[in-house]
Amino acid sequence: MSKKLEGKVAIITGGASGLGRATAYLFADHGARILIADIQDELGQQVAASIGSHNCSYIHCDVTDEEQVKSMVEWTLQNYGQLDIMFSNAGIIRSKKTTTNSDQNILDLDLEAFDHLFAVNVRGMAACVKHAARAMVERRVRGSIVCTASTCASTGGDTDVDYFMSKHAVLGLVRSASKQLGAHGIRVNSVSPYVVATPLLCTVSGWEAEAVEKFYAGRTKLKGVVLKEKHVADAVLFLASGDSEVVTGHDMVVDAGFLCK
Ligand SMILES: NC(=O)c1ccc[n+]([C@@H]2O[C@H](COP(=O)([O-])OP(=O)(O)OC[C@H]3O[C@@H](n4cnc5c(N)ncnc54)[C@H](O)[C@@H]3O)[C@@H](O)[C@H]2O)c1
Repeated sequence: MSKKLEGKVAIITGGASGLGRATAYLFADHGARILIADIQDELGQQVAASIGSHNCSYIHCDVTDEEQVKSMVEWTLQNYGQLDIMFSNAGIIRSKKTTTNSDQNILDLDLEAFDHLFAVNVRGMAACVKHAARAMVERRVRGSIVCTASTCASTGGDTDVDYFMSKHAVLGLVRSASKQLGAHGIRVNSVSPYVVATPLLCTVSGWEAEAVEKFYAGRTKLKGVVLKEKHVADAVLFLASGDSEVVTGHDMVVDAGFLCK
């Protein structure tokens, strides 16, 4: 297998679980050195240990706290000497910071939960792009930044107004940052998965992975394939690597045809 990220250093936020974890394993297979950043310390440490301490580390970083994001980037520069790839992926679907049982329908929108979700999915994403880009610009690195958006960035939702809004905002971030950073040779793209049965999806639906996959496979146009974490990781690898050398400002949908008109 040709190694597409040999000599590269990547940060993956939300790398302790789901799509971030799958991407960490794939990046490691392709020769990258990786920093996994998350708030689930035990899981994050397990992922880093299973990849191997020679090319993977874990750091606690709550992306809602800009100082922690800044320290995460500084840690990477000090310990790995460079930063080539930022996969800004940490996100939540529903905030636990609510006293109500709202499903975040517009009529009963819990704004405290809304604020917390935006702090993670929008403010946190912007902080990660900002500090990664600053490090790349200062060191004249033609880096690649990939953000996790969602098919929810292109549609409205029956519930979870705040989540749908937050993913639309990620596209705004990617489109603006790609324009502004192009002069420095830095590419900024997003990956937009449809439903993948990660812990996030299973927890919020209350279903087992198989039930999630069966239900949502019925809503996609491309039959005979089940959307898995690996499909998203493959798309992130493409956007992170030289294979997409001239691709920037692009939202890569990974949805088995869900959004096909
Ligand atoms: N699973 C899907 O169907 C799906 C579809 C579209 C988009 N997404 C997006 O993919 C991304 C990853 O989600 P996933 O499905 O792998 O879920 P997941 O819950 O398995 O992983 C998300 C990770 O983000 C971490 N995280 C949450 N808040 C954080 C914070 N404040 N600081 C740092 N890390 C934090 C969690 O601890 C977790 O490890 C999210 O942005 C999500 O919105 C998921």
